[in-house]
Amino acid sequence: MTSGLSTIDLDVFRRYSGLSLPRHVSYPMPTGWRDLQAVEATAMLRESRQRSPANDISLYLHVPFCERLCRYCACTRIIRPRSQAESISRTRDYVAALLTEIDALAGLVGGGRTLRQVHWGGGTPTYLSTEQLERVHAALSESFCLADDAEVAMELDPRVLTSDVLEHLRRLGVCRVSLGVQDFNARVQEHVRRVQPFEMVRDIVAACRDLGFTSLNFDLIYGLPYQTRQTIQETIDKTIALSPDRIAYYHYAQIPEKVASQRGLDYTRLPDSESKLEMFLLGVERFEAAGYVFIGLDHFAKPDEPLAVALREGTLQRNFQGMTTGGGLDLIGVGASAIGHLAGIGFLQNVHDPDEYVACLNRGDWPVTRGKRLTFDDRVRQSVITQLYCSAEIRPTDIEEQFGVTFASYFGPELDALRELEADGLVTLQDDGRVKVTRPMGRVLLRNIAAVFDAYLEPNAYREGDRRCFSASA
Ligand SMILES: C[S@@+](CC[C@H](N)C(=O)[O-])C[C@H]1O[C@@H](n2cnc3c(N)ncnc32)[C@H](O)[C@@H]1O
Repeated sequence: MTSGLSTIDLDVFRRYSGLSLPRHVSYPMPTGWRDLQAVEATAMLRESRQRSPANDISLYLHVPFCERLCRYCACTRIIRPRSQAESISRTRDYVAALLTEIDALAGLVGGGRTLRQVHWGGGTPTYLSTEQLERVHAALSESFCLADDAEVAMELDPRVLTSDVLEHLRRLGVCRVSLGVQDFNARVQEHVRRVQPFEMVRDIVAACRDLGFTSLNFDLIYGLPYQTRQTIQETIDKTIALSPDRIAYYHYAQIPEKVASQRGLDYTRLPDSESKLEMFLLGVERFEAAGYVFIGLDHFAKPDEPLAVALREGTLQRNFQGMTTGGGLDLIGVGASAIGHLAGIGFLQNVHDPDEYVACLNRGDWPVTRGKRLTFDDRVRQSVITQLYCSAEIRPTDIEEQFGVTFASYFGPELDALRELEADGLVTLQDDGRVKVTRPMGRVLLRNIAAVFDAYLEPNAYREGDRRCFSASA
């Protein structure tokens, strides 16, 4: 993408940016879900087995515990010192609950189905002991048919990683790892309470390469207090020097009303909207110049990485882990707060609190508490929004073939809104009916374009929504 602030129409940018709009890690977003009875949740899981018994599975497993608090962190996590006796027994109970849930899930969705992807997320998955990790992994391969070439990925915190743990993970079959790097600047690291010197990350990267992990991702965040164009440029350049296969370059999600730890950050040191836009564009420019493919929204990958291949082949997906491969797979969520997405059927989310999750499974109850069964309209709009995020265009003929609707009449008001966005340079409406997102304007304001198709928002939310703070969406 051509970059730099000079490529942006700042008047238009200021009009559309700063609205509180979803990033559409799902459609409908969780705000559009409702409380779900266990009987309905289990019926949806059974339905996925009846509808597509041969459909492969992707599984997300959540370990919510961390030893230390990072002040920016908006993930579902509980801080517990690992070696305290009480923590040890609660972690043991949590692992037992995971094993119970895995066994029950296999019974419902079909244990004969192939497990193609496993993603261990957190919190910090390596908070579990190697023996506990091994037991959960064994339960997954005993309850499902774990593919020989399954993509097994794990989120790792460099500060609590040892070479023994890394070796153990490799032996277990973990092949992809994601390092929470966030930022390399010492001042920023200290302020957000995530101190991990460059040398620490460099040595882990070298160990991962020696052990033969096939893919290495870095999570970075821009928009944190004390970050400047200069510090971000240094972080980007150090990242490029370590050459991870994938990069997630997240905009800092600032929600102090929900995340108490964020209230401890110095808000007088936050970069302003235009500085954050500049940081985002700088990332795009430098990562692309270093040979990375801009996958969309906030992801980059080397050209031969499966994510870049999926982009080229049109099979890219969007879910709670961001941009992913594995289109069409049923996503099963395991653990407290984990989310599942059954293709064409709906979303299911487990109870947030780990102790409640354990209590629920001990009682023999199902841990799902919220979710959404998709309506026909949800499925049509989900497909349009996925096209926008995953290929930066809308292909009306695909939607018409898939759902038997006439795009122009189904989306009359939305097309009017798109004409308005075209006048402002965010999209172009092609003669063949396709809608193309422009670079860089439309990419930077992608969430506004997607909001046009979100029936759970006010009709004019894409230009008049709740004005909060800037977040580049490109
Ligand atoms: C689910 S978290 C768990 C990662 C792991 N526990 C660690 O910290 O290394 C995954 C990623 O979410 C991102 N993240 C967490 N809080 C965020 C926030 N407030 N805004 C943007 N990204 C955030 C971070 O980049 C983090 O690495």
